[in-house]
Amino acid sequence: MDKLIITGGTRLEGEIRISGAKNAALPILAAALLADEPVTVCNLPHLHDITTMIELFGCMGVELLIDEKMNVEVHASTIKHLTAPYELVKTMRASILVLGPLLARFGRAEVALPGGCAIGSRPVDLHIRGLEAMGADIVVEDGYIKASMKDRLKGARIFFDTVTVTGTENILMAAALADGESILENAAREPEVVDLAECLIRMGAKIEGHGTDTIRVQGVERLHGCSYSVLPDRIETGTYLIAAAATGGKIKVKDTRPDIIDSILIKLQEAGADVQWGDDWITLDMHGKRPKAISLKTAPYPAMPTDIQAQFTALNAVAEGTGKITETVFENRFMHVLEMKRMGAQMDIEGNTAISTGVTNLKAAPVMATDLRASASLVIAGLLAEGDTVVDRIYHIDRGYECIEEKLQLLGAKIRRVPS
Ligand code: UD1
Repeated sequence: MDKLIITGGTRLEGEIRISGAKNAALPILAAALLADEPVTVCNLPHLHDITTMIELFGCMGVELLIDEKMNVEVHASTIKHLTAPYELVKTMRASILVLGPLLARFGRAEVALPGGCAIGSRPVDLHIRGLEAMGADIVVEDGYIKASMKDRLKGARIFFDTVTVTGTENILMAAALADGESILENAAREPEVVDLAECLIRMGAKIEGHGTDTIRVQGVERLHGCSYSVLPDRIETGTYLIAAAATGGKIKVKDTRPDIIDSILIKLQEAGADVQWGDDWITLDMHGKRPKAISLKTAPYPAMPTDIQAQFTALNAVAEGTGKITETVFENRFMHVLEMKRMGAQMDIEGNTAISTGVTNLKAAPVMATDLRASASLVIAGLLAEGDTVVDRIYHIDRGYECIEEKLQLLGAKIRRVPS
């Protein structure tokens, strides 16, 4: 397994480009299964999760054309198998996103049940219940969700009792081809859900209210082809800004969207960063100062994303003062805290809150990445530590960060990958 070795102590300075958003690219690729003409998806990031989705399409017999810029043309009409096998679903839970489109377009789908994962139990009951409300017959047997229906899915009113991002996306895609009107209540408002809805509209879907908690969909009989460019990755944007703030640095991130990360920018300003932005860029300058500790609580959009919690925890490890970070979206999402403590961080977990008192310097130690965002936080901790930090199990990071070591090197970090 590859490792990253980071020699800490350098302030991040420079400019980088932000990649397309993984969490928008995955549902948009799945949405391409709904169209009876080719759909071209552009600005896809080079990431393992995207490769896994492409591999899944390959298993289903869906023909794809990929150009040198990683634009992918999906020909869904060539599909031969309606199954997402366990071997792929176990490496990427988001494979569940093919369930709604396969059922809505082809009348049948078998998707392996995603198991538990490192950041909590993460059930998919709301996906299943939503599709059942639209008339699908669903059984869970032999570790698979087996869904079928006699005719077309029927539009329905669906209330999500927990805000679920991929759950909203699955039902939205199914509703686009259902017979009649669907109303999705307590829907996720994440920018990636909005991006998916915009892509579906480009394909001919009739959707209103995306970006609010009530989405109305008038089902149509067919969806046509289109070309769609995925929005920039707000979590990648936030990760580099936090890394720069934690190191007392000065960076510019380009090709991004400041308007969808208000909650992150406000906390960076509270930490003492001078933050400026234009339509598609953000600059951050700490003027060489140590950050101040921040307190935050994660919650669905537009509040603080759970996917940026670990990175802010790394900043608090070296910040001036005491910070409280409360996780409300997933249970068991503080494994990085234990690793940071091994690097000398003064932190304790009380229930779902990590309370820290910043130290002036972390000390390098071998650490282990446990999930995607935890790995990013350990890389930030490595940038802040005296000595060489070795981050193991970085396959997690390759699932969600395009060229992380190249981008950090562009910002002056001393980081290298050691193949196993
Ligand atoms: C998506 C993101 C992930 C992010 C998360 C929360 C993708 C591919 N992944 O994951 O990066 O961390 O949103 O912003 O977009 N829940 C249920 N029943 C369900 C579904 C979810 O109880 O059927 C619960 C979960 O256990 C969790 C909460 O709802 O506590 C939110 O999860 P959800 O929004 O579904 O996360 P994902 O869509 O899997």
